[in-house]
Amino acid sequence: MSYATLIVETSDAVTLVRLNRPEALNALNGTLMDELTAVLDAAEADESVRAIVITGSDRAFAAGADIKEMAPKSYAEAFTEDFITRNWERVTRCRKPVIAAVAGYALGGGCELAMMCDFIIAADNARFGQPEINLGVIPGAGGTQRLTRFVGKSKAMDMVLTARMMDAAEAERCGLVSRVVPLAELVPAALEAARKIATLSPQAVMIAKELVNAAYETPLSQGVRMERRLFHSLFAFDDQKEGMAAFVEKRPAKFTGR
Ligand code: HXC
Repeated sequence: MSYATLIVETSDAVTLVRLNRPEALNALNGTLMDELTAVLDAAEADESVRAIVITGSDRAFAAGADIKEMAPKSYAEAFTEDFITRNWERVTRCRKPVIAAVAGYALGGGCELAMMCDFIIAADNARFGQPEINLGVIPGAGGTQRLTRFVGKSKAMDMVLTARMMDAAEAERCGLVSRVVPLAELVPAALEAARKIATLSPQAVMIAKELVNAAYETPLSQGVRMERRLFHSLFAFDDQKEGMAAFVEKRPAKFTGR
C-alpha cells in the first residue's frame, strides 16, 4: 500500500510509520491524518503486528497542524467536519503499543501527536513546543491537558503561554520523554524497544498499556483495584504459565498469545 504523506514498512512484527511531507516539515494536514488513521486501523487488524513506531525526519517529527490548510477554515466547517476529533485521536484508541520517535521539531499538533503515543523516545536535537498562541489560537489536540499532566503546571503554562520550546535534555528531565539518544540511533532505538515488546505476551502488553493510561483518568484506589483484577485475569492465559515456567527452567519464554 502506498501513501501520499507516509512511508510505512512492517518487519519483525513492528510497523514503522514515517511522516513524510518534507516540504512542510511534516505539517499534519487532513490527508496525513486520514492516512495515519488507515495505517493504525490496518496495524490493529493484523495479528502479526505487535507494536507501532511513528517517526518523522531528522529535521522535524511534525511542525504542527498544517497552518496553510487551517487558516481559511470557518467555525462552521471546523465544527461540522469534527476537525481534530474525527481523525486525530485514532492513536489514543490503539490497543497495541505506539512509540513516538521524535527528532527535530515536535510543535503544536506534532507535540500533541507525540504525547498521544504511549511513550516518546527523543533524539538529542528534538525540540518540543506548543506555539499556537503565536497564531492567535490555543492547542486543540490535547496539548493543554496532556502536556500539563506530563510536565506539571508551571512548565506547561510557560510553554503554552509564551510558545517557548523545550530541548531534548529538558524534556527528559521533566518526564515528557522516556529517554534521549543520539540522532543516528533514534529509529534503531525505537525499533529495538518495539521489537522487545513484540516478543512479549500480547495480552499482558495490552493490559499493561491500558492500566498505565488509566492512571491518568482514575483515582488511585480505583486504578489499583482495576490493576489487581486485571493482574488476576492474566493467570487465565497460557502465556503466564509459559513465562513463569521459562524462568524456573532457566530458558527463554516462548509466548503464543494464548
Ligand atoms: C504548514 C509549515 C508548518 C505548519 C512549517 N511549514 N511549519 N506549513 N503548517 N505548521 C512550512 C513552511 O511554511 C515552509 O514552507 C517549510 O515548512 C519550512 O519551514 P520554515 O519556516 O521555512 O523553516 P524554519 O525557518 O527552519 O522554521 C522552522 C519552524 C517554523 C520554527 C518549525 O516552520 C515554524 O514556526 N512553523 C510553525 C510552527 C507552529 O506554529 N506550529 C503550530 C501549528 S498550529 P514554505 O513553502 O512556506 O517555504 C497547531 C494546532 C494544533 O499545530 C491543533 C490541533 C489540530
